[in-house]
Amino acid sequence: MTWKDDYAHRMMNTFGVPKVELVRGEGCAVFDSDGKRYLDFLAGIAVNSLGHNHPAVVGALTNQANLLHVSNFFATEPQLALAERLLRISGAGDDGRVFFANSGTEANEAAIKLARRTGRPRILSLQDSFHGRSIGALSITGKAALREPFEPLLPNVEHIDTTIEALTAAIGPDVAALFVEPIKGEAGVRELPAGYLEAARELTTQHGVLLIVDEIQTGAGRTGNWFGFQESGIVPDAITLAKGIGGGVPIGALVTFGAASTLLQPGQHGTTFGGNPLVCAVSDAVLAQIEADDLVANAAQRGAELRTALTALDSPLINDLRGRGLLIGIGLAEPVAPQIVALALEHGLIINAPNESTIRLAPPLIVGDDEIAEFITTFSTVLNAVSSAAPTEAS
Ligand SMILES: Cc1ncc(COP(=O)(O)O)c(C=O)c1O
Repeated sequence: MTWKDDYAHRMMNTFGVPKVELVRGEGCAVFDSDGKRYLDFLAGIAVNSLGHNHPAVVGALTNQANLLHVSNFFATEPQLALAERLLRISGAGDDGRVFFANSGTEANEAAIKLARRTGRPRILSLQDSFHGRSIGALSITGKAALREPFEPLLPNVEHIDTTIEALTAAIGPDVAALFVEPIKGEAGVRELPAGYLEAARELTTQHGVLLIVDEIQTGAGRTGNWFGFQESGIVPDAITLAKGIGGGVPIGALVTFGAASTLLQPGQHGTTFGGNPLVCAVSDAVLAQIEADDLVANAAQRGAELRTALTALDSPLINDLRGRGLLIGIGLAEPVAPQIVALALEHGLIINAPNESTIRLAPPLIVGDDEIAEFITTFSTVLNAVSSAAPTEAS
């Protein structure tokens, strides 16, 4: 029996059998069970902010090993330190509050409950958006194919077009919240139209609607700001966080701004593991290291370098480059993203295809010159091989 047979026989078939079994990582690389090295330009889907085996993460894990978990009957220093840091870097400040959960999905569940506390029935979210797989988070996800097998879902959720006109038409005094991703990662790294967040802030304020920004994929410095919404200068009512703030440990958080901070009252929400000292100590260490090494600026600079190098490839397969900082969508002229991802893996490069015509790059924020050069060499080889193999207009 190979590990693939074991996987097929033991794991529920929700993901398909993977091609590779990984055993360890170091910096921007991971290694499989045959000892083969891969350059990791996906970082566990925008999770491993400091790459793999970073001393700050290893140190925090080791130091916290004597108090892993205590329940929310007790306070711990790591959760208070992390909450302080999140309130500072998000701009929520002294009036803001943090609720810790265990995943992005759970952060959005908390945000949906926050919205319910307004007493208003309707929730707006965007077509093609992604907010998670639980019944609540799936209800606000704008991909019908993901929702349909699980209907009926939450009532009174509307998935509107990503235009200011559609928002203007849909919003009203019976709307509790608008959920929005600053960049729709799972939809293929799609940016919002220019001025959308600013207009959304104006309209939501006018109608007393909560503006809830899902920063689960865009947060923790990835886009060249601590959080994607900060590019626009608006102040949201809440943001949801996960992925990159933990650097690899499972964490989610709902951060509220101002008046939204008192909507959830004692006893109205909870979780056993949320805010546990192990996870909070690691997350705080990850964010401290991002601050100390100015990796938010590195994300902006390396993202710009990657865009320049990708443009210089002048490949007929590349249509456009989307996203910001180190969340990059490479729009393809042909629906060959799955072939590119598979061939890249054979060549020792991990990237991903959120859809058939998009390659997504989300490397660790520590990425430097050597990794960018290696990525461009391998990616160019793969692109050339796919364009000469595919009987397409591009070849
Ligand atoms: C924007 C966004 N929201 C929510 C989620 C769900 O997060 P999780 O998979 O941690 O539950 C994701 C995950 O891809 C995401 O990208």
